[in-house]
Amino acid sequence: MAGLAVNVDHVATLREARRVHYPEPVTAALLAELAGADGIVVHLREDRRHIHDRDVRILRQVVQTKFILEMASTSEMVGIALDIKPDLVTLVPEKTEELTTEGGLDLIVHKRVVSETVTLLRDSSIPVSIFIDPDPDQIKLAHQINADMVEIHTGSFCDATTAAKKEKTFSKITDAVKLSSKLKLGVNVGHGICYKTIKAFKGLKEINEFSIGHSIVSRAVLVGMEKAVREMAMLIKEL
Ligand code: PXP
Repeated sequence: MAGLAVNVDHVATLREARRVHYPEPVTAALLAELAGADGIVVHLREDRRHIHDRDVRILRQVVQTKFILEMASTSEMVGIALDIKPDLVTLVPEKTEELTTEGGLDLIVHKRVVSETVTLLRDSSIPVSIFIDPDPDQIKLAHQINADMVEIHTGSFCDATTAAKKEKTFSKITDAVKLSSKLKLGVNVGHGICYKTIKAFKGLKEINEFSIGHSIVSRAVLVGMEKAVREMAMLIKEL
């Protein structure tokens, strides 16, 4: 059965909307774990727009399931990861002007620098996943540079507005998941997945973990973190 990694960035987004001390992303992470999350994810961005260094440090100490750090492939972030030692690093592209991570990391363009980061992290026994678009060339490159896992970007499917676009984009995701698994890469998926779109993944048994943030935190505002996580975990169990 696939696992659920809960991204708590948007609890910090709410905190930073007022630059105060609440809501506390660490509390949200612990409630998510109590409700059955298999891992906690945060993205430490260069501009620290939501998650801060102190959140990462505390989460590393208190998360008991698996602590996953999303980060850009920069020397600053590599230094933090080597110090904190997350259970998994997911390398993502990052642009200051974007609202959220827009596309996968382009390994055709950034192969050399990403490859160096993968080597540095793996030499320190930190497994590495790379967030990529559902594109066979990107998957083959992730395999070539010795990534442990890939996270397939599901945004194009989740954001598709017509049945035809949904079908086309999901078929790319299916092919990407199967190719990654064939190459013995671990396979996570994420971005834009909500309580409705999760149901489309039924039967895709190669998926190791779903990485979900915005939809869970949005529901948690209304029904509470534990209920929001439990409902998503139940939907994943039914896949
Ligand atoms: N995976 C990656 C690599 C991401 O950058 C994000 C967004 O922070 C997610 C998963 C979660 O996406 P969402 O918040 O849309 O569920």
